[in-house]
Amino acid sequence: MSIFYTNNIDKTQPEKLKGFFVGWPNKPDLETHFKILKNSFAVWIALDGDRCVGFINAISDKIFYSFIPLLEVLPEYQGRGIGTELLNRMIDTLDKMYAIDIVCDDSISEFYQSKRFRRSSGMVKRNYLHQSGK
Ligand SMILES: CC(C)(COP(=O)(O)OP(=O)(O)OC[C@H]1O[C@@H](n2cnc3c(N)ncnc32)[C@H](O)[C@@H]1OP(=O)(O)O)[C@@H](O)C(=O)NCCC(=O)NCCS
Repeated sequence: MSIFYTNNIDKTQPEKLKGFFVGWPNKPDLETHFKILKNSFAVWIALDGDRCVGFINAISDKIFYSFIPLLEVLPEYQGRGIGTELLNRMIDTLDKMYAIDIVCDDSISEFYQSKRFRRSSGMVKRNYLHQSGK
């Protein structure tokens, strides 16, 4: 399996983004997912042929603060280093930023700790009526 990584979202199309947001009750549709990536400060995607099998995005003030809202690899592609590669590429892209923040489930924290993220505490607000981005 040869995976191609690119930060050019125009290398894909909405219909190539099938299968993400696993477990989300109210997931963004393909067009909305594509717009989320297109509107982001930075994005990396992993392609197997023309199928998108993983993605990561970052939002930012473009000066010193950035957030990584989403990182996901399709279930059948997990455990092959794709998530690590996407995260490493995003960390390189954001290397001039003072802050790179991620909110994650406790079960994923070791994955980020191994990339030198440290545990912090935070507060979040979610409007589940808009979970699909609509
Ligand atoms: C988290 C995720 C992106 C990792 O992608 P991946 O391609 O499977 O990751 P890798 O193959 O690069 O694995 C990296 C390491 O993280 C570990 N890891 C992966 N997923 C994990 C999970 N859900 N919980 C704990 N550890 C995990 C792997 O065991 C691996 O450890 P190793 O290098 O010691 O073997 C992927 O599991 C995923 O999409 N999960 C669902 C969405 C999600 O939770 N995203 C994070 C949002 S904050």
